[in-house]
Amino acid sequence: MDFPFGVWLLCWTIASHQGAVFSISCPHHMVGLENCECSSFENAKTPVRHIDEVVCRNLGHTSHQALESLRLVPHIQRLEYTGNDIRELAANIFGNCSQIHLVNLTYVDLSHNNIEIIHGQSFHCAPNVRILKLNYNKWRVDGSHARIFSSMPHLQELHLRAAFAGTGTPAGGSTIGLRSVLQGSHIVALRKLHLEENDLQFVDGQTFCQLPNLEELYLSDNRLTKLSLDCLDQLRDLYVRNNSIPWLTEEDIRSLERKKYLSVLDLRNNQFQCTDCSARTSHFRDWLLTGSRFVVDKSRLTCTKGRLAGRKITSLTDDDLRGTCPKPHHDQKSRSRTKSIITAVILSVIGLLVVVFIYINRHGIQKTLSKWGKPIRNSAIMKRVHFGYRNMNSENSAPTMATL
Ligand SMILES: *[C@@H]1O[C@H](CO)[C@@H](O)[C@H](O)[C@H]1NC(C)=O
Ligand SMILES: *[C@@H]1O[C@H](CO)[C@@H](O)[C@H](O)[C@H]1NC(C)=O
Ligand SMILES: *[C@@H]1O[C@H](CO)[C@@H](O)[C@H](O)[C@H]1NC(C)=O
Repeated sequence: MDFPFGVWLLCWTIASHQGAVFSISCPHHMVGLENCECSSFENAKTPVRHIDEVVCRNLGHTSHQALESLRLVPHIQRLEYTGNDIRELAANIFGNCSQIHLVNLTYVDLSHNNIEIIHGQSFHCAPNVRILKLNYNKWRVDGSHARIFSSMPHLQELHLRAAFAGTGTPAGGSTIGLRSVLQGSHIVALRKLHLEENDLQFVDGQTFCQLPNLEELYLSDNRLTKLSLDCLDQLRDLYVRNNSIPWLTEEDIRSLERKKYLSVLDLRNNQFQCTDCSARTSHFRDWLLTGSRFVVDKSRLTCTKGRLAGRKITSLTDDDLRGTCPKPHHDQKSRSRTKSIITAVILSVIGLLVVVFIYINRHGIQKTLSKWGKPIRNSAIMKRVHFGYRNMNSENSAPTMATL
């Protein structure tokens, strides 16, 4: 069967523009990379064939050997090294900067490697990386790792989906580490940040303030209950799908409206609570109906908790909302008042019993007290006091501290 001439022409045009890609298995002297695929991007400007791309998938390596062999591929532009068990990214995996500099490396994918520790200097000597993927790892971050990405000043995309340790556990301690990493790194060129599936429960408003050029922020599939994001003046797309946000407060809404380029806000699959407490749902609903030009699918956002579960938020009337506030404070107050009344009654009954007991046994108690009284009068303390008085009498002076 013949292809129409137009299709042939199109294919030829694409091929000649992009240059052909030649795939080979990597040379044997590159220890650890033998089972990887090395490719060369041929184009008219570079007649000599270099290795431009290295792809290693699911080799289950437990050492750094392969990554260290990258120093033998100085022309590399793209690296995909995924599906290993390397635990720790040592310092200078991409070279030591004195002789080795991977200047043309722009794309690095290190996903699915069980990476727990990343050294401050792990990413040195690869200064032109634009896209870095560290998805699905077990990174344990703390304050001491704060400058991890500082050697990648041109980084535009950072992918950290399910990247942190504790992801999927109730602890979810990734929030604090995240802030320290972002603040120390000065990755001001960053435009796209992926943070899905990290079990994030809250994000401090200031977390992203060191990323002045961020345009796309992906926070879906976390457990966020609040959406307060300061700064981010260039933000265009904000994905917060499948979190636990109960409503947006007036302050959250004001801060979103201030972001003048915002054009996508995805709030689908959140745990919207529809109640009339402090008019928060009616305010949220009014905003969905009148403002909120950037909210995705806004007429389909649904209450998931409370009496109005299943209802579309934009369809709620004031009558629907009236009386849906559970008023937990009043319940608590009356409960604590009941508790203190019961305590008072019990205490007064005990007090009364004690008084009655003393009254009934008053003769016995008096006898016991007078029996105890005699030995006390003969005790050493009484003698010292008598002695002191005698001194006073005999010398006609005030008793000194020593005698008392
Ligand atoms: C990097 O790319 C530039 C432009 O393609 C090329 O001239 C240069 O030789 C490359 N450097 C290395 C170390 O591959
Ligand atoms: C950098 O690495 C090269 C190649 O591995 C080595 O020959 C050189 O001694 C190293 N330089 C330093 C300062 O470590
Ligand atoms: C929602 O996010 C959780 C992780 O927080 C994930 O396990 C779950 O599959 C997601 N649900 C949907 C419908 O995407």
